[in-house]
Amino acid sequence: MLLLICLVWNKASEIVREFSSGNIVFHSTNSKVKEVPQNTQHGGGGKEVHHVAFLKVHKTGSSSVQNIFLRFGYSRNLTFVLAHDKKELAESAYPNMISYSNSLTEKNIVPPPEGRHYEIMCCHVIFNRTQFEKYLPTDTYYIGLVREPITRLESAIRYFNLFSNNNLSEYAANPLKLEKGPHSMSNNRMAFEFGYPLTLFPNSHEKPTDLQKAIDEYTKELFQRFDLIMINERMDESLVLMKRVLNWHVKDILYTEKLVAKRMTRRFNDTDIRNLKTFLYLDHHLYQRALDEFSAKVTDLGDEFQEEVANYQKEKSMASEFCMKSNISFIEFSGTKWNSKYTVTREDCDLLNKFEINFIQTIRLKQYGKIGI
Ligand SMILES: *[C@@H]1O[C@H](CO)[C@@H](O)[C@H](O)[C@H]1NC(C)=O
Ligand SMILES: *[C@@H]1O[C@H](CO)[C@@H](O)[C@H](O)[C@H]1NC(C)=O
Ligand SMILES: *[C@@H]1O[C@H](CO)[C@@H](O)[C@H](O)[C@H]1NC(C)=O
Ligand SMILES: *[C@@H]1O[C@H](CO)[C@@H](O)[C@H](O)[C@H]1NC(C)=O
Ligand SMILES: *[C@@H]1O[C@H](CO)[C@@H](O)[C@H](O)[C@H]1NC(C)=O
Repeated sequence: MLLLICLVWNKASEIVREFSSGNIVFHSTNSKVKEVPQNTQHGGGGKEVHHVAFLKVHKTGSSSVQNIFLRFGYSRNLTFVLAHDKKELAESAYPNMISYSNSLTEKNIVPPPEGRHYEIMCCHVIFNRTQFEKYLPTDTYYIGLVREPITRLESAIRYFNLFSNNNLSEYAANPLKLEKGPHSMSNNRMAFEFGYPLTLFPNSHEKPTDLQKAIDEYTKELFQRFDLIMINERMDESLVLMKRVLNWHVKDILYTEKLVAKRMTRRFNDTDIRNLKTFLYLDHHLYQRALDEFSAKVTDLGDEFQEEVANYQKEKSMASEFCMKSNISFIEFSGTKWNSKYTVTREDCDLLNKFEINFIQTIRLKQYGKIGI
């Protein structure tokens, strides 16, 4: 029974791969050469997208989403953009981290294996359109994820143990006094990772005369390049929308919550938040733009989309429960109007729960035949 499912699954993805590799267009650099899948029903003739860049932004819930990309690429043998994990070559001490402060470069990523090209990018790195387009196929879909800036900041403060000797209200009243260096985990970090030029940041000494215009211009370019920017506070809708954009299967977007807080979260009060809104003007601008665009898309899709989201939530919690406690070997979901039928097995649970560094190293080993590269 399981073997049969495996064979059918492999066959389907082989067909898809042949089809998509015949369709890759590498020559043009500026124009977006890709079709937006018309068919949202997996198996209904549409092809699943295999070229994806996911911008993994710190403390936006990105580890849960990254697992989706790791599983998708791993189960289809797609080629990942990976950081070096050899000390002398790596930019960071973590094999899952390409860079805290730079975009993709010749130096910070491992070249693809002989005869292959990159297909999935989902590790921490700073976005820069020119650099991303240098390494990723022209028909790559760009996916982002943002989170309400104050909540994201509180999460970063907790996770990285920032300002532990300071009163948060003092920080909020004058953040630049405590900010060190040109960029940090707290200074408009989302905008930083989305590649906003440093001259636009609050601590820049060379801000453009018309700051708002410069911000708008960069944002416009960013939103032209990204196919979808997801919203942390609306994760399930985000993932179902992503599933439609990429023409994936509901099984591909299952996830379990990752990285639960170890320390208590220190919260800002209303006065602090007012102060911080001024400081986090880039993050707020980015978040608001993304939220407006996202809400408009979801509203457009209407009730039928919400029905799919509800179905997804139901199946996700059943899968989650199966993975957590049941002792049966697989769970089967019958098809719906949005998806063909599928099973979730113990092996699927292992991948759903796999810790990101282990997953990256498993992929590295599979992709290059060794680790320490
Ligand atoms: C992935 O590669 C493995 C080993 O080379 C192979 O057995 C498997 O069929 C491939 N899977 C897919 C989906 O192509
Ligand atoms: C934090 O600083 C503010 C302003 O200086 C002060 O009013 C407040 O009492 C301090 N709070 C704590 C918990 O120390
Ligand atoms: C992106 O990288 C290119 C170099 O490839 C650089 O010229 C450009 O200024 C960078 N863009 C931003 C917004 O930093
Ligand atoms: C927020 O905390 C600061 C410092 O403790 C305090 O001075 C201020 O009155 C508080 N504001 C509100 C709205 O609670
Ligand atoms: C699963 O667990 C139930 C109750 O905990 C038990 O009765 C049953 O025998 C178990 N089944 C298997 C296949 O281990």
